[in-house]
Amino acid sequence: MLTAYDYSTAKLMDSCGIDALLVGDSLGMVMLGYDSTLPVTMDDMIHHAKAVARGSERALVVADMPFMSYQVSVAEAVANAGRLLKETGVGAVKLEGGAEVCPQIEAITRASVPVMGHLGLTPQSIHTLGGYKVQGKDRDRARRLVEDARAVERAGAFAAVLECVPAGLAALITRLLQIPTIGIGAGADCDGQVLVYQDMLGLYPGKKPRFVKRYADAGAVMERAFRSYIEETESGLFPTAEHAFTIDEEILNELKTHYEPESRS
Ligand code: KIV
Repeated sequence: MLTAYDYSTAKLMDSCGIDALLVGDSLGMVMLGYDSTLPVTMDDMIHHAKAVARGSERALVVADMPFMSYQVSVAEAVANAGRLLKETGVGAVKLEGGAEVCPQIEAITRASVPVMGHLGLTPQSIHTLGGYKVQGKDRDRARRLVEDARAVERAGAFAAVLECVPAGLAALITRLLQIPTIGIGAGADCDGQVLVYQDMLGLYPGKKPRFVKRYADAGAVMERAFRSYIEETESGLFPTAEHAFTIDEEILNELKTHYEPESRS
């Protein structure tokens, strides 16, 4: 699984054979420039999810439920999950949390909307977690993570993302659950993996998180191309005749005679 936020990237990933595309609320940071995912709205998610769904022919597309679209009440959660499915064409929604969001997961799945869970580092809770750090390292928190994962499965989630969880704990949770786990910073023993594509392509400024592998430096490739374009347009090297369209000479001469009679004399 990879994140995707627009039509052309989704189409490219889909044609490469990706199993699932996540329209993550990480779009708040990597596409919209916020410093967290908290400001992302339902309208933002719907806008981007529509584009990704249009670009995907075979991959499962999952859209994140943004902050405060499911926390306030179960009824609101069902209505917002329904909007995401109905208005965008995605196949499932994802929401963050453990036992505390199980009533929402139950009600949303009962309404025939497939739900993916998200446990461990849940970025929408950044202010209560106290920062972007590995979760479940001490005995109590590790046990709670296991119990939360089991609760999310019992509530009806069809899969669960495990973010920034120690590899051994993620492996244990993966063995204990019947549903697939999808890891990000959770080691190799999860059933699947997900990355934010800007991270794996070097397109997002700042320090690379330890769990990210950089598969290409697309940022550097794009930077070179942008610089060449600026230089060539300024120096006249671009565009050349091969990038231009022609018009019948006779028509052009008629127009010149009409509009620029002084330059003819
Ligand atoms: O929003 C997102 O991109 C995510 C992934 C980090 C799993 O939730």
